[in-house]
Amino acid sequence: MPGLEEIRLHLADEILPLWHAIQIESNDPDAALPYWAFAWGGGLAIAHYLRDNPDAVARRRVFDLASGSGLCAIAAMGAGASAVTAADIDPFAVAACGLNARANGHRVATLQYDVLDEAPPDVDVVLAGDCWYEARLAERVLPWIQRVRESGIEVLVGDPGRRYLPTEALEEIATYGVRTTTELEDLEYKVSRVYAVRTTATQN
Ligand SMILES: C[S@@+](CC[C@H](N)C(=O)[O-])C[C@H]1O[C@@H](n2cnc3c(N)ncnc32)[C@H](O)[C@@H]1O
Repeated sequence: MPGLEEIRLHLADEILPLWHAIQIESNDPDAALPYWAFAWGGGLAIAHYLRDNPDAVARRRVFDLASGSGLCAIAAMGAGASAVTAADIDPFAVAACGLNARANGHRVATLQYDVLDEAPPDVDVVLAGDCWYEARLAERVLPWIQRVRESGIEVLVGDPGRRYLPTEALEEIATYGVRTTTELEDLEYKVSRVYAVRTTATQN
């Protein structure tokens, strides 16, 4: 990955040909876009942050929400996490995460499961890279990560300034310039930030 040379991911250069191949392979014209075939700005910010601050996850159990390619999960393993679980609703993402983890010599447990109506996972840190690109998902992620945070688990959110980012509930902790792709973004170079989640006690 540019700027994160220690991480290797199987990624696509173009989104549409891959999406069409998935529609054919799965015989599903409504198949989800292959978000897992790209490293998103939010996940890249988290990966940079974990490289600079390995103590945030070292020797701790980590959960990567909406893991896509597995970028954040792999960065957490690289930073010394004791165990990482990656969750995504897209079966292709779950498969990609497993392949990418292996390409980096790591083992990541995967869950193909929508956890957003579930109780917080039994971990020490939750990572949420680029989850605020869509209104409906954003509406569900916020109460879940707040619940996670209130239960004493640390949460790191990575985001390049998406429309639905709930900045009032977050506290910025780091900023990175990241290189993504114009297949996804208006510009190849994005400013992307890492945030902690405020607890109700720190919101006022
Ligand atoms: C923009 S991608 C981010 C991927 C990765 N975190 C990154 O930063 O590169 C968002 C991912 O969220 C997944 N997703 C959408 N709704 C979800 C849900 N309810 N639970 C888990 N994952 C979900 C999508 O399948 C997609 O892989």
